[in-house]
Order: sequence, then C-alpha cells, then structure tokens
Amino acid sequence: MKFFLDTANVEEIKRINRLGLVDGVTTNPTIIAREGRDFEEVIKEICSIVDGPVSAEVIGLTTEEMVKEARILASWAPNVVVKIPMTEAGLEAVHRLSKEGIKTNVTLVFTVAQGLMAAKAGATYVSPFVGRLDDIGAEGLDLIKRLKTALANFHFTTEIITASVRSLKHLEEAAIAGADIATIPGSLFPKLWSHPLTDKGIAQFLEDWKKVPKKS
Ligand code: E4P
Repeated sequence: MKFFLDTANVEEIKRINRLGLVDGVTTNPTIIAREGRDFEEVIKEICSIVDGPVSAEVIGLTTEEMVKEARILASWAPNVVVKIPMTEAGLEAVHRLSKEGIKTNVTLVFTVAQGLMAAKAGATYVSPFVGRLDDIGAEGLDLIKRLKTALANFHFTTEIITASVRSLKHLEEAAIAGADIATIPGSLFPKLWSHPLTDKGIAQFLEDWKKVPKKS
C-alpha cells in the first residue's frame, strides 16, 4: 500500500518524509488555503521534496477551463497530478488530458458508479471520500471494498486513493480491502505508529534495565 500525505504543510511533509513513509501528496483548495501561501509556490516546493505524485486541484467548472488549468499545473513539475472534480465536464477533461499524457486524480467520488466512470474516462487515480460518507450516516469503507472489486473485475489500472481518512480504522480497513493508496492528514500519521502498550513496554524495559548488573 502507498501512503500519501493529505496536506500542503511543508514542515509536516518533510518530517514524515524523513521516515520513508511518503509516496505522494494530495491537496485541495481547502488544504492550500490553510497554509496562507501562494498556490504555485507551495506546489512547486512540495514537488521538490517528494518524488511521488503531488495532486493539485483545478478550480474551473467547464471542460475548457479545467483542461487549460491542468496544462498549467502539469507544467509546474513532472510529478504534478491534476485533481479534477467528478462531474460530466470533469470526465471529458480527464479523457482529453489522459490522451495528452497528463495524469489525473478524480476527486469527490461517493459511489461505485462514479469511480467506474472516472476509470473508464482514463483517470490515473480515483479518490473515494470515506469520512464524508460516514458524516452523512453512510458506511464509507463499504465504498472502498466495492469499488476495489468493481475496478478489479474489469482490470482497470486506475488506482484507488482512499481519501477523507479520519481514523486508524479507516486506514486499516482500506488496507485490508486492498485500496492502492490512502491519503492521510499529517495529524493522523503519528497515530499509525503509536500504541499505549508500546510506550508502556519501553518504560518497563528501561526500568528493568536498571536492575541488570553492570561491570562499570
Ligand atoms: C483528498 O484528496 C481529499 O481532498 C481529502 O482527503 C478530503 O478530506 P476531508 O473530507 O477530511 O476534508
């Protein structure tokens, strides 16, 4: 499984990247706005830190606007992936961009049908939003399992990015379901490697070590 960081915070990216855990980065307009920095500057900086794909989202709503923006975003760095919303205009943009060799990540996917449409149009990645489905009382993780099966049935090469990940359970169940990627907020990452029994175990070992006779 690949781990992406769902953040535009450069310090967070550098810190997690030092652990060898960052295969890519995803951003959206909300995440970019949180940093209070110029969009182009921050995307270029992230692309220089991370070797893997870095998603940058278009703002336009028509196909022409999206394609135009996508070409600009893709020119910023070779590892930019253009995030396109799951709409009819978006699907046409994805189809056109795939023919130009520009990688896309179709975002705001909430059903298996939407995921299949994105894959068929030529998306490199598709991003089902688990947490936002949970927010409305649906079972977000079901979408990951069902979309994984649907894409595998027809040998689509589109990779599933489990997005809107809010908990350890989201990450673990997405991994068990075989999602290719999970994009994880920086604040959640430490919970993936932590456990109270690990901390307790270390404290106990250090305490017991004091009882070991030392020659000097
Ligand atoms: C990533 O591609 C998504 O934009 C992000 O995971 C959305 O997360 P949220 O639902 O917590 O805002």
